[in-house]
Amino acid sequence: MLEDEGGTVTQPQSDAAAMPNGASAPPPLPRLDIALFHATPEFERSARAALSDRRMRRARAVVENGGLPAAIATFRKSRTPDLLIVETLAEGDDLLRELADLAEVCLRRTKVIVIGRRNDIHLYRSLIDHGVSEYLPMPVDAMGLIAGVARLYRDPQAPAQGKIWAFFGARGGVGSSTIAHNTAWSIAEDHKSETLLLDFDLPFGTCGLDFNIEASKSILDALRDPDRLDDVLLERIVAKQGERLNILTPSLNLSDEMEIPANGLEKLIDTARASAGVTVLDLPHLWAPWLQSLLADADEIVVTAMPDLANMRNVKNILNVLNSIRQNDRKPHLVLSQTGVSKRPEIKLADFAKATGCEPVATIPFDPSLFGKAANNGQMLSEISARAVPARAVSDLASHLFEAKAAPAGKGRTTLSRFLKW
Ligand SMILES: Nc1ncnc2c1ncn2[C@@H]1O[C@H](COP(=O)(O)OP(=O)(O)OP(=O)(O)O)[C@@H](O)[C@H]1O
Ligand SMILES: [Mg+2]
Repeated sequence: MLEDEGGTVTQPQSDAAAMPNGASAPPPLPRLDIALFHATPEFERSARAALSDRRMRRARAVVENGGLPAAIATFRKSRTPDLLIVETLAEGDDLLRELADLAEVCLRRTKVIVIGRRNDIHLYRSLIDHGVSEYLPMPVDAMGLIAGVARLYRDPQAPAQGKIWAFFGARGGVGSSTIAHNTAWSIAEDHKSETLLLDFDLPFGTCGLDFNIEASKSILDALRDPDRLDDVLLERIVAKQGERLNILTPSLNLSDEMEIPANGLEKLIDTARASAGVTVLDLPHLWAPWLQSLLADADEIVVTAMPDLANMRNVKNILNVLNSIRQNDRKPHLVLSQTGVSKRPEIKLADFAKATGCEPVATIPFDPSLFGKAANNGQMLSEISARAVPARAVSDLASHLFEAKAAPAGKGRTTLSRFLKW
């Protein structure tokens, strides 16, 4: 909290407020038991939206009506949770009296966030003196509440949290993996950022071939033993490509047990966030629960499609689901791939965009010679020809995503717009 000259409270802009589309919103919050008592329909709406957000997925929350008095009555009979969020309409001495009553029933380890009417630094200080962990004056929106909770649980010793970018094909074979691998490489080489590439196509992934590496360990070694996995072990089992790109290749051993354990997945993603600025997930074309949970949790999603009817239908369905479960996030980025194949009829970009409600951020022309050479040599597109249109399109896509890490979204088109014609 900051004090301005008039003595009112200026909320440090919530990350989400600074980034209207959630570009730099806080990472997922820890597993918490939360009780929330609202006093107005307005805050109830924000609270429910916050609790259904992906960042709060690990929290277990109980939502009740009645504000601060109802919370006091409830916790005279039961133990307070890790976090108590209470809205109050009371002011002045009434508010302090209610807080004193709450303090009597609150366990010492319980953190309390008070949502109130007044925006006043003196009130804020007095509440903090009374043991309140945070005070948020209304209006509080979903992301403002999430940011408020995140401030309480931020570990100053913890390493900075990296971003997760998920790459997913609307159908099999559209080019999603090639784009994911080239993007990861471009982030490491061009943007000099520590990058981790995870190939989740366990039986058939092409990560090893595309980078011409033979790794002795696979992503299964990171998934199978979550209790042992930490940044040190991760560092030991990744294959290194250049100075900044680390890769976990798929197992490829068809007799391996290929179930992806939920606790292993969660631990791997947490460890990845703590280890690399950007983690690229190369996801297979499946619709399994584990894959949906990765899509739900990612900071950015790139959906790649070819310009035909089945791809268009799939993109529409995929975006419908993702937009509904990620309401406080940037929309997925759509890439049209393998466009302009000679004699093959295709859906026009404008029609594809209209039908799916999403304008492609990049269009990557069909170029069998370039892609064939890159795949056969185990090289990136830029290494074959940095000036080729597909290589430039992918490197612009990488820049677009990388800039989105630090810049507000939705500020118009980027340099990618030059690839929007096909
Ligand atoms: N724009 C393109 N022009 C020509 N060939 C391409 C293009 N994009 C991808 N390819 C080729 O298409 C094949 C499939 O690409 P890729 O493996 O990247 O797709 P995918 O969507 O990940 O497929 P899968 O469903 O198998 O995971 C590869 O041989 C790749 O080189
Ligand atoms: Mg693939």
